[in-house]
Amino acid sequence: MNSKQQAGMAAANLVQNGMGVGLGTGSTVFFALERLAERQKTENLKFFGVSTSFSTTLLCRKMGIELKDCGAVSHLDLAIDGADEIDPNLNLIKGRGAAHLLEKIVASLAGKFIVVADSSKKVKNLGEKFPVPLEILPSALGLAEAKIKGLGGVLEVRMAGASKDGPVISDSGNIIADAKFGLIKEPEILCKELDCIPGLAGHGLFVNLAKEAFIAGEAGVEHISL
Ligand code: A5P
Repeated sequence: MNSKQQAGMAAANLVQNGMGVGLGTGSTVFFALERLAERQKTENLKFFGVSTSFSTTLLCRKMGIELKDCGAVSHLDLAIDGADEIDPNLNLIKGRGAAHLLEKIVASLAGKFIVVADSSKKVKNLGEKFPVPLEILPSALGLAEAKIKGLGGVLEVRMAGASKDGPVISDSGNIIADAKFGLIKEPEILCKELDCIPGLAGHGLFVNLAKEAFIAGEAGVEHISL
């Protein structure tokens, strides 16, 4: 069993009958979904999920996991999601897969937000390996560029590559970009500054949201609870 699978399964084992569960996006969450689908069959586990992306919705359909619309829900018992970087306080960078806007809404709906990852995602300071993903209303792109520059960052629109000309467009129809700030020593401050940019629909800095994590490596699964 690989590390992502171990982490995803550990979190899926916390789901109990009757729960509403936020279902994140990515290759680690995939294993949580697989385990949840298995528990539905073997233990008759009953729960509903709220998906964070078209990608996860398609997987849930295939696996037979019941979903509710995010906008129809005001509370979830827990949410399970991956991360691109994790600092010692469980602050995160998310959004490699461009799902960070909905992922943050779903994480904020949850009483408990649980991160699942392999140990390569651990960093001392956010920004070590990944830029901060952004989701921008098309009409606010110029403003966002200027504001990010004012914060000492560099914004780069994320291009779709071979499968589409032009930028990556989010599930909500906005432009995906990435902002490089170098090492982020004060994520709380940067998070608040990004929150204030008009037309910036979302960003991938998740500060003070995760309180629990399953991080798997060669030595097994580390369970962190703040
Ligand atoms: C999706 O936009 C991302 O936030 C993912 O949750 C994150 O990139 C983790 O993905 P993996 O589990 O595939 O590394």
